[in-house]
Amino acid sequence: MARPKILIAEADKDLLDIYQIVIESEFDCELLIAQTGDKAIELLNNFDDIACIISDYKMPNRNGGDLFQANLKKKKLPFTLISGGFYSDFEKLEKFKPDGEKYIFLEKPITENGLIKAIRNMLSTTSFPQGDLHSDNYTRIKLKFLSEEITLPYDLYLKLSEGKYTKIINSEEEANEIINKYISKNEVFCYLKTSAFTEYIQVKLEQFAEEFSESAGQHETLRTSHKIINSLEMGLEVLGIRKEHIELVDKITDNCLNYLKKDKSLEKLLKNSFSNEGYLVSHSLLALHISYLISSRMKLNDEEILRKLAYASILHDLTLGSDELSQIMIISQDLLDELPLDKRLITRNHTKEMAALLENLEQIPSDTLKIISEHHEHPNGKGFPRNSGSRNISPLSGIFIISLKISDFILTRKIQGGDLSELVKELKCDYSNGKFKGPCNEFINYLSK
Ligand SMILES: [Fe+2]
Ligand SMILES: [Fe+2]
Repeated sequence: MARPKILIAEADKDLLDIYQIVIESEFDCELLIAQTGDKAIELLNNFDDIACIISDYKMPNRNGGDLFQANLKKKKLPFTLISGGFYSDFEKLEKFKPDGEKYIFLEKPITENGLIKAIRNMLSTTSFPQGDLHSDNYTRIKLKFLSEEITLPYDLYLKLSEGKYTKIINSEEEANEIINKYISKNEVFCYLKTSAFTEYIQVKLEQFAEEFSESAGQHETLRTSHKIINSLEMGLEVLGIRKEHIELVDKITDNCLNYLKKDKSLEKLLKNSFSNEGYLVSHSLLALHISYLISSRMKLNDEEILRKLAYASILHDLTLGSDELSQIMIISQDLLDELPLDKRLITRNHTKEMAALLENLEQIPSDTLKIISEHHEHPNGKGFPRNSGSRNISPLSGIFIISLKISDFILTRKIQGGDLSELVKELKCDYSNGKFKGPCNEFINYLSK
């Protein structure tokens, strides 16, 4: 019987290479490769003798769910799904019930053994030969996968006959020229000692795991932020905020989140807060849209200002870690007294605490730090920590604080038919002096248009 054909669908070229290297090191098989869902489905339909399928979920032009359904309709071949494990990724996979043999789920980042075991188990449910290569302390790898390696920390060998190998490149010797010479002589495989091969793959997979954990964290946070923006649509609509404005703010927010996530402690805080869609995140993002609306009307509409506001919005309440605490706008004694001591302290100190966390992050503008430390100041002088009233704050803080007020109004009051007259009344009463006067007037003028 012919060698088993294995269909691999994975959009990422580097990861695809690693999968191929691992599979070809262990199995005598033929690989059918697809980088899009469409291509994978086409291959599935064109070949009658595929033994099993390995597929990522996310791919351009139809995903792993589409491939699974196409397979279910006709061939019902063993199927391994590889995914980052986001629950929302699993559309069209209602009938995918992992059983460890025919249907297998591998969570990214995967391991060499995990992948090999999945294929072995899938093949065991078919009548195809298992295709195992005999291992004799050497493991094969296609020369083409090494053709760009300038040096390798391992010796490379060619196989002369069963059990006989000859060294062609010493470790740390310049490798790519020699490798390409063998490729041009139609040599396909070279060999590493099996222990070296295992190490080589592990290093590659670890590199990938690092990239993956970074991007997975990012996706999760960005996904929530986009979801929230969608759910804020009503708030944005009430305010008549334009689509281009929303898109620009979203883009800058994404950039800021990407930068912040590089810091381990911030990454943790972001993950905590952005894992739900409650008040903390909602009011932060809505306040950002409002503050950019106001600053644009005050002709402060360049991207640098938006970036300062975006960092301030994302970060200002992040250490609170709770929707309940982020709703406290002014610390008035009675509100605080109702809180248990630990929460009281967290609330009182959160502006300072965030400033300390940001100390070593070069990209955070000093204006942002100022906004964060001043975001609980109030025009009536009863804010904290400085009780500084309306005059001794920065102009951007004035814009941001009033935006927090507007955002809170929209999120917590019942607004009938887009009527914001109550909000206007409150703003006129409380925010029309000092640094608040300009932004307050701009906002009210904007609404009256
Ligand atoms: Fe706050
Ligand atoms: Fe806040």
